[in-house]
Amino acid sequence: MEKHKVNKCERINIMNLKNNYSPKSIKSAAVALMNGYLVAFPTETVYGLGSDATNNSAVARVYAVKERPSGHPIIVHISSLSRIELWAREIPDSALKLAKSFWPGPMTLVLRRQSLAKNFITGGQNNVALRVPSHPIAIELLLEFEKLGGLGVAAPSANKFGKVSPTTASAVEIELGRYLSDSDQILDGGPSQIGVESTIIDCTQDTPLILRPGGITVEMIEETLEIKLSNSYSSVGEVRVPGMLASHYSPIAKVFLSGTPSPGDGYIAMADIPTPKGLIRLASPKDNDDYAHLLYESLRSADSQGLKKVFVVKPDNQGVGMAINDRLTKAANN
Ligand code: TXA
Ligand code: MG
Repeated sequence: MEKHKVNKCERINIMNLKNNYSPKSIKSAAVALMNGYLVAFPTETVYGLGSDATNNSAVARVYAVKERPSGHPIIVHISSLSRIELWAREIPDSALKLAKSFWPGPMTLVLRRQSLAKNFITGGQNNVALRVPSHPIAIELLLEFEKLGGLGVAAPSANKFGKVSPTTASAVEIELGRYLSDSDQILDGGPSQIGVESTIIDCTQDTPLILRPGGITVEMIEETLEIKLSNSYSSVGEVRVPGMLASHYSPIAKVFLSGTPSPGDGYIAMADIPTPKGLIRLASPKDNDDYAHLLYESLRSADSQGLKKVFVVKPDNQGVGMAINDRLTKAANN
């Protein structure tokens, strides 16, 4: 793949993580998307690598930059529920109820596709995954893009395939910057508040099925729909979710959820658990939300410090804990 020179001057200054975006830079990012370039942007879950979801060659570049195998479907981001029917049809009441309750927010709905959702977005499936993110910069970018006639922004997490999702603009720059061109952009919106990817819910079957746990929890969905969901959140039926591969979300360091650490290994555990002697503390979250918020940056920090092993004490499964444990199990499965 061709490597492009990175011209930092043409980018938003990502070294300063605060107040370094402006309405002008968001407009210019929307124009870049319309012209077929890539824009990495913040969402409340993780940073996404965006492209015009109707532009085959722009989406192909996302695959190339990520080194993502073809046939993996991509989430289409829209600015509001009112645009859902551009992309999806036969939308069940349960999906509408979820959308009304949790959009904008960390939830992705898999629905029957409209013809606008081409095979290069859906991986050849009859379904399309849609999300309305809540990060103000993401929403602003989508609105500006739509003002220019854009219909949706296809955006996987802005990391190399199988690796840890970025939760800061600098993590995107470090991971993908050298593969982006001068016309591509990275928008900086500070650290992602939630820190793990959206909950993906398959709404193409009679009962909604959680395909990937995330910020919207099983309890929240059950309460909204007044039903009990199946326990398994796995790829069943006709919907394929390649991100649910047993191994994913992996740093370079090896992640261990049990076993005996040695001095110099990394350590992640709740704040009330002391650091075993000689280990390098990478994060001390105070609760599960804080754990999700800190997790990916702490795994990245293990890599930037050149650590070979990271020992992790998992949180309980309450709330976003289920999503954290899902990601940790996959990170450890490498
Ligand atoms: O929080 C998120 O969801 C972030 C932000 C950027 O929105 N995006 C994200 O995208 O995590 P990605 O591509 O890294 O993970 C999306 C997962 C993949 O496992 C993909 O296979 C699955 O969603 N997916 C996408 N479209 C699908 C579809 N039509 N049916 C089933 N699974 C789908
Ligand atoms: Mg991803």
